[in-house]
Amino acid sequence: MQSFLNQSIKAVIRDYPEVGQILDEFEIGCAPCSVGDCLLKDIVEIHNLSPEDERLLMARIAGVISPGEKIELPAVERKKPAGPKELKYSPPVKKLVEEHKLIKRCLALIPRLLEYLDLQSEADRELVLGAVDFIRNYADRFHHAKEEDILFKYFDENLDILKVMHQEHETGRAHVRAVLAGVEERDSGVVREHLDAYRELLKEHIKKEDEILYPWMDRSFSTSQVGELYSRFGEVDRQFGEAPQKYGAFIQGLEERFCGGRIAG
Ligand SMILES: [Fe+2]
Ligand SMILES: [Fe+2]
Repeated sequence: MQSFLNQSIKAVIRDYPEVGQILDEFEIGCAPCSVGDCLLKDIVEIHNLSPEDERLLMARIAGVISPGEKIELPAVERKKPAGPKELKYSPPVKKLVEEHKLIKRCLALIPRLLEYLDLQSEADRELVLGAVDFIRNYADRFHHAKEEDILFKYFDENLDILKVMHQEHETGRAHVRAVLAGVEERDSGVVREHLDAYRELLKEHIKKEDEILYPWMDRSFSTSQVGELYSRFGEVDRQFGEAPQKYGAFIQGLEERFCGGRIAG
């Protein structure tokens, strides 16, 4: 079993597909991930399961890999012990979680925006361009820049979990480029396909960050790193001035127009 801990999760799932289902039951979605190639032991560390869940998970996996054998389950080393399931963030990371809330409000509006989309109409084209402006300037330049240029730099960027996050940011950017091309060509099908794909991608991406990545990162920060992060994020906030408030008002305006008020976040 010890050797399996040091194997890539993809290889373990390929050889023992049932392990993918077991991970799923513990809300660890490795099977559908197309990018990462984390080790089984990293999965356990990153997801910060309670000691009971961790033993149960490892026992279930051991039962699949070596059925019938009595197995000594190795203890997985942690930087800090698993805490209660309730998510608590350090102040700088909480800022990012708050930014996610505005991005999620934008994502929740996308189906309404696409419902009656008519790209022959100047007003509808402006609407899509407004959403793209929000995605590019708030979600990407403001928020993803804090992640890519600051937060992720505290970790080894060769870690698979960070490669996955970077790749998802890039995939999001590609969807946005396709949306702009669709507007240019007045091709509603392309705009629908890529805006909806962006919504689906970001929804899952944010969930992974809020529930897995950020708590895992937070567990490894020292107090002085938390202070440093807070002041570096503050610098970015100052550089962007009133822009975040402007984008908050933009989303609120869309919510009032389409839904009579807030529908998410
Ligand atoms: Fe991200
Ligand atoms: Fe994020």
